[in-house]
Amino acid sequence: MKNITIIGTGYVGLVTGVGLSEFGNKVICVDINQSKINDLNAGKVPIYEPGLLDLIRKNVNSERLFFSSDIASSIKESEVIIIAVGTPQSKNGSADLKYVFDALDSISENLNSYKVIVTKSTVPIGTGEKIITKLKKKYEDNIDFDYVSNPEFLREGSAVKDFLWPDRVIIGTNNEKALQIMRDIYRPLYINKNPIQRAAVETSEMIKYASNSFLALKISFINEIANLCESVGADVHDVAIAMGKDGRISDKFLHPGPGFGGSCFPKDLEALLSLSKEHSVTMETLQAAIKANRNQKERIGEKLDRLVSGGIKGKKIAILGLTFKANTDDVRESSTIDLIKFILNQGGFVNAYDPIANESMAKIFNDIHYFDNVYDAICEVDALVIMTEWNEFRALDLNRIKKSMRNNYVLDTRNILNMKELSEQGFVYDNIGRIKI
Ligand code: UDX
Repeated sequence: MKNITIIGTGYVGLVTGVGLSEFGNKVICVDINQSKINDLNAGKVPIYEPGLLDLIRKNVNSERLFFSSDIASSIKESEVIIIAVGTPQSKNGSADLKYVFDALDSISENLNSYKVIVTKSTVPIGTGEKIITKLKKKYEDNIDFDYVSNPEFLREGSAVKDFLWPDRVIIGTNNEKALQIMRDIYRPLYINKNPIQRAAVETSEMIKYASNSFLALKISFINEIANLCESVGADVHDVAIAMGKDGRISDKFLHPGPGFGGSCFPKDLEALLSLSKEHSVTMETLQAAIKANRNQKERIGEKLDRLVSGGIKGKKIAILGLTFKANTDDVRESSTIDLIKFILNQGGFVNAYDPIANESMAKIFNDIHYFDNVYDAICEVDALVIMTEWNEFRALDLNRIKKSMRNNYVLDTRNILNMKELSEQGFVYDNIGRIKI
């Protein structure tokens, strides 16, 4: 087992730090944000991730997990330094590496012994080479380090599970010693299966972008199939089931919806597209996935405007689900942002409810009404729109809702409501790509 410092305590850094301490390593999670570190040391977790708080408590109590803002001494006492800071999208679509290079500066100022420097943040292909060159230029050959690319494949809402039971762990390095050290910190994964795959640094960086881009393309594809299903009278639910039975396709990520959001897919696709343009390599599939997603977000507002008799103007709309998907508190690039903008621009009014993210959305829209439960949110509204697939939305009391709404329009953008029940209750409803009952 090793002494590890993780720089950055966001979704990726915190889950990685907790996961590696769970594997038996001694891990210090560091951040420049002192209040974040204070909260973590007080047992407060800044993000919503099922299972994370329990694991933090367990590993802090076992003295394997620590939180500190003293980056210098943490680096000095660690053998493995993992960069897990944000790489936000810059204006031209490429990834902004400011925080990565700030972290690298902290590392290079504290290289008091051999270290494995690991980038877990999603970085453009070729960044590893730049990091190695920058360090070698500064120290020539009188420092001892090796570099590793170790991208993450964590989904928000299931990040702990995805870390502890990964499909694969990619170790991008051309150095045997560094590879062995990385195998050592992930050793418990050998117990069930050995998901560790070695690759060259650039290959490892490409694996991350290619994986995310393909998943996003798959979502844009099923969304467009759903849209065509609506016009030709096919049912996308049955199409997806039949497609998914083909092992080459798999049934995962074939759920049509309001368009993908989150802090990864949108920015990763733009970053890869930006890189492909730099290299004058055409990537039509990438452009198509991005454009189809933008169209899907716009389409939701248009569907609602057509569904509600007389259009949205002057109507009160309840939106259930504010985040980019269920089981998270993250509203970044959420399709609900586009929908709220559309409703307000059309002269409609919004009642909003999310099980955990009302506050997050209120930072973007402070001129809509937020409720702390579904049934208050839908009281006296003309239409109800479901935007995320929280389980509590799957089990709505439609009879109670019908009596409480002023009108009877329902738009289910996640296809989670029972159409037979909607019809029986007298709702005028729409969804994505289904044959109506
Ligand atoms: C994604 C990747 O899945 C993960 O491997 C990577 O490390 C980070 O980016 P995340 O963005 O957290 O994870 O969530 P994910 O579950 O992939 O969903 C992304 C978006 O796609 C959400 O808006 C979700 O609603 C949407 N989606 C997902 C669909 O619309 N249909 C699907 O079938 C699956």
